[in-house]
Amino acid sequence: MKLGIVILAAGQGTRMRSRLPKVLHQLAGRPLLQHVVETAFALAPERVVVVYGHGGEAVRRALADERLVWVEQREQLGTGHAVQQALPALEGLDRVLVLYGDVPLIRAASLRRLIDTTESALGLMTVNLADPSGYGRVLRDQAGNVLRIVEEKDASAEEKAVTEINTGILLLEVERLKEWLARLSPDNAQGEYYLTDVIAMAVHEGVAVHVAQPAEAVEAEGVNTRAQLAALERVFQRWQAEELMAQGVTLLDPARFDLRGSLRAGTDVVLDVNVILEGEVALGDGVRVGANTVLRDVRVEDGVTILENCVIEQAHIGPGCRIGPFSRIRPGTELVGEAHVGNFVEIKNSTIGLGSKVNHLSYVGDTHMGAGVNIGAGTITCNYDGAYKHRTLIGDNAFIGSNTALVAPVTVGDGATVGAGSVIAKEAPAQKLTLTRPRQVTIEGWSRPQKEK
Ligand code: UD1
Ligand code: CA
Repeated sequence: MKLGIVILAAGQGTRMRSRLPKVLHQLAGRPLLQHVVETAFALAPERVVVVYGHGGEAVRRALADERLVWVEQREQLGTGHAVQQALPALEGLDRVLVLYGDVPLIRAASLRRLIDTTESALGLMTVNLADPSGYGRVLRDQAGNVLRIVEEKDASAEEKAVTEINTGILLLEVERLKEWLARLSPDNAQGEYYLTDVIAMAVHEGVAVHVAQPAEAVEAEGVNTRAQLAALERVFQRWQAEELMAQGVTLLDPARFDLRGSLRAGTDVVLDVNVILEGEVALGDGVRVGANTVLRDVRVEDGVTILENCVIEQAHIGPGCRIGPFSRIRPGTELVGEAHVGNFVEIKNSTIGLGSKVNHLSYVGDTHMGAGVNIGAGTITCNYDGAYKHRTLIGDNAFIGSNTALVAPVTVGDGATVGAGSVIAKEAPAQKLTLTRPRQVTIEGWSRPQKEK
């Protein structure tokens, strides 16, 4: 049976009060629609079709995935009309699963169960909610067979009391769906073509409606407001935290941990509170990350300790390094290993050799630093001349005195020593002491001015 998936994403999302289309609002760092698209592909269907709305070019651009088939719904005339637009894109397929772009937490396992257990022409995913308001209600006969769905706006008081709701997720035989959609009419409170009306049609034709439920009711929750988005973000973060803990990661407080991307973690990784991981992050065995640290697209090798309040982005941190507190490591940086980077140090686009130390108050940019180097407090690489960036080369075992300015392009040789407070604009030769500060003098017979009485 060839399966197609249609994701409805044409709605405007007015209640978000945003210029951004609703399905592009982010959950855990990815657009809502992307979550649904990923779940759809996890089911290995023949085709995934996204129905997008008028002016939704931004949606197509944001989701740049060549596997997707895009169908525009110029006017939003209802969920039935939306699926109708997708029909030509479903040629040659047997069944279609309908998903919603604003229902991001639905899990592949729950959908898989609906797909595997539906033997009739129509499968329906429902949940029971303590507060069903706003949703379409599932009406059943006395024997418990589904009869139809009534939208809240069309429901009587008695029907509104039903707590089993339509998640909107449906599995349909394509050929039957074509016939049913052709017969929809907008004769209802909202003047829309309701996809949900096909259920009564199917029942009328003697089709047994198969019902499945997701593992957790929250999987069926939609995002209509920013408050709902924030609530689903917490649920998703809790799921991720639980999965990581099950894999052996220690989260000192799983409620204060955010992963907006993917994490590959070794054994005995410990993350303190308010750690934020973005993009692709890999943490080796025994890595510890202190409170309030942000790691974005970073690979961290075994045995690294990152202390509190660091921001590290697009960098590779070699084994055994110690970073922070309050360090900033910017894109293009590699710490080879065993390096120490301390407080109020910024490193950009640089290599820091094995065991080198930049412990306090420094800026190191566009620099290649060898092994065993010691950079004194307050050392700055002056890498920018106002027009161009230049490189600084520092040899193995060099020692740079505190408060030195290294004016690039410049080289400090192996084993060179630079005196504190120097401005180094020419090569500092290997193994020698170089300094630029004026000699210290003491003026004899000088006294401070005194105020007259
Ligand atoms: C729909 C269901 C309701 C169900 C609820 C679950 C119908 C008639 N009602 O109601 O039974 O309980 O979802 O969340 O189906 N969309 C389009 N084009 C349109 C209209 C909608 O693409 O013309 C998309 C929206 O972007 C959204 C989804 O379809 O992703 C649902 O539309 P929405 O208007 O939110 O439907 P509900 O009133 O919530
Ligand atoms: Ca909705």
